[in-house]
Amino acid sequence: MRVFVDHQLCQGHGQCEAEAPDIFEVRDDGFAHVLRDLDVTESPTVHAAAARCPVEAITVDAAPA
Ligand code: F3S
Repeated sequence: MRVFVDHQLCQGHGQCEAEAPDIFEVRDDGFAHVLRDLDVTESPTVHAAAARCPVEAITVDAAPA
Protein backbone atom coordinates (compact mmCIF):
# COMPACT_ATOMS: atom_id res chain seq x y z
CA MET A 1 0.00 0.00 0.00
CA ARG A 2 1.40 3.36 -0.98
CA VAL A 3 0.48 6.74 0.40
CA PHE A 4 1.21 10.05 -1.25
CA VAL A 5 1.04 13.62 0.01
CA ASP A 6 0.46 16.17 -2.74
CA HIS A 7 2.73 19.06 -1.83
CA GLN A 8 0.83 21.30 -4.23
CA LEU A 9 -2.12 20.95 -1.85
CA CYS A 10 -0.60 20.34 1.59
CA GLN A 11 -0.65 23.41 3.81
CA GLY A 12 0.95 21.85 6.87
CA HIS A 13 -2.23 21.50 8.91
CA GLY A 14 -0.75 18.49 10.68
CA GLN A 15 -3.94 16.52 11.11
CA CYS A 16 -2.33 13.54 9.39
CA GLU A 17 0.55 13.53 11.86
CA ALA A 18 -1.84 13.89 14.79
CA GLU A 19 -3.77 10.84 13.59
CA ALA A 20 -0.81 8.69 12.63
CA PRO A 21 2.52 10.08 13.92
CA ASP A 22 4.36 6.89 13.03
CA ILE A 23 3.39 7.32 9.38
CA PHE A 24 3.29 11.09 8.71
CA GLU A 25 5.73 13.80 9.72
CA VAL A 26 5.40 17.50 9.06
CA ARG A 27 8.92 18.71 8.41
CA ASP A 28 10.62 22.10 8.36
CA ASP A 29 9.61 22.55 4.74
CA GLY A 30 6.00 22.83 5.95
CA PHE A 31 4.80 19.71 4.19
CA ALA A 32 3.79 16.30 5.48
CA HIS A 33 6.07 13.45 4.49
CA VAL A 34 5.29 9.74 4.49
CA LEU A 35 7.85 7.97 6.65
CA ARG A 36 7.68 4.52 5.11
CA ASP A 37 5.79 2.10 2.93
CA LEU A 38 2.83 0.62 4.69
CA ASP A 39 1.30 -2.72 5.28
CA VAL A 40 -2.29 -3.13 4.18
CA THR A 41 -3.25 -3.82 7.80
CA GLU A 42 -2.57 -0.16 8.46
CA SER A 43 -5.23 0.89 6.00
CA PRO A 44 -7.81 2.04 8.60
CA THR A 45 -5.27 4.34 10.22
CA VAL A 46 -4.12 5.76 6.91
CA HIS A 47 -7.64 6.34 5.66
CA ALA A 48 -8.54 8.04 8.92
CA ALA A 49 -5.54 10.32 8.55
CA ALA A 50 -6.44 11.07 4.93
CA ALA A 51 -9.99 11.91 5.93
CA ARG A 52 -8.76 14.41 8.52
CA CYS A 53 -6.74 16.41 6.01
CA PRO A 54 -8.78 19.57 5.37
CA VAL A 55 -7.39 20.06 1.86
CA GLU A 56 -7.51 16.39 0.81
CA ALA A 57 -3.80 16.29 0.04
CA ILE A 58 -3.39 12.61 0.93
CA THR A 59 -3.93 9.86 -1.63
CA VAL A 60 -4.04 6.20 -0.63
CA ASP A 61 -3.20 3.56 -3.22
CA ALA A 62 -4.46 0.28 -1.83
CA ALA A 63 -2.58 -1.84 -4.36
CA PRO A 64 0.43 -3.69 -3.03
CA ALA A 65 3.62 -1.66 -3.17
FE1 F3S B 1 -0.70 18.52 4.92
FE2 F3S B 1 -3.14 17.69 5.15
FE3 F3S B 1 -1.31 16.67 6.68
S1 F3S B 1 -2.53 19.80 4.81
S2 F3S B 1 0.15 18.34 6.97
S3 F3S B 1 -1.42 16.49 4.47
S4 F3S B 1 -3.36 17.20 7.30
